[in-house]
Amino acid sequence: MIIRQEQARDRDAIARVTAGAFAAVEHSDQTEPAIIAALREAGALTLSLVAVEGGEIVGHVAFSAVTIDGADKGWFGLGPVSVRPDRQGGGIGSALIRAGLDELRERGAAGCVLLGEPDYYRRFGFEQDAALRYEGAPAEYFMRLVLAGPAATGRVDYHPAFGAG
Ligand SMILES: CC(C)(COP(=O)(O)OP(=O)(O)OC[C@H]1O[C@@H](n2cnc3c(N)ncnc32)[C@H](O)[C@@H]1OP(=O)(O)O)[C@@H](O)C(=O)NCCC(=O)NCCS
Repeated sequence: MIIRQEQARDRDAIARVTAGAFAAVEHSDQTEPAIIAALREAGALTLSLVAVEGGEIVGHVAFSAVTIDGADKGWFGLGPVSVRPDRQGGGIGSALIRAGLDELRERGAAGCVLLGEPDYYRRFGFEQDAALRYEGAPAEYFMRLVLAGPAATGRVDYHPAFGAG
């Protein structure tokens, strides 16, 4: 399995893998492929990594800038992240997430936030922080990882593309 940046020819496969991964996710409104496309269209898809196995795309993760109290503070949002259902549980999602976080660190990012299952994301160092708020979901699912400098405080907003679909 290799992990690399997305290329233009990967776009349909990314949409398929994402739709397939979220099809069975109860809390999903199935807009994840549209969100990725809208981020890309807006030039806001900061990092888009694919996992490739035997020439096929089996996983994907997106990162995009978030604002804190309306300002760019060098923080990013992780997601959507997807692994093809028949390949889940084999470490591909973890590898994509670690590769993305490493790349953000190299680029000097201050931190990363996400919405997700705390039991899964704690292993990467994500934690809840009452001082960093997101108003669109229950606080227990919102987590942050400080990559450099002090922990940010305030209200987080994702790119408007997250309303796509
Ligand atoms: C979430 C997802 C990207 C993880 O990728 P993956 O390759 O299956 O995960 P990995 O193999 O790296 O990690 C497996 C571990 O994560 C756990 N895990 C996977 N998804 C989980 C979830 N939603 N909640 C809690 N734990 C989860 C597994 O139980 C396993 O735990 P273990 O290592 O303690 O045995 C993938 O399962 C997926 O595409 N799910 C559907 C889409 C989705 O829910 N995306 C995330 C929305 S926030």
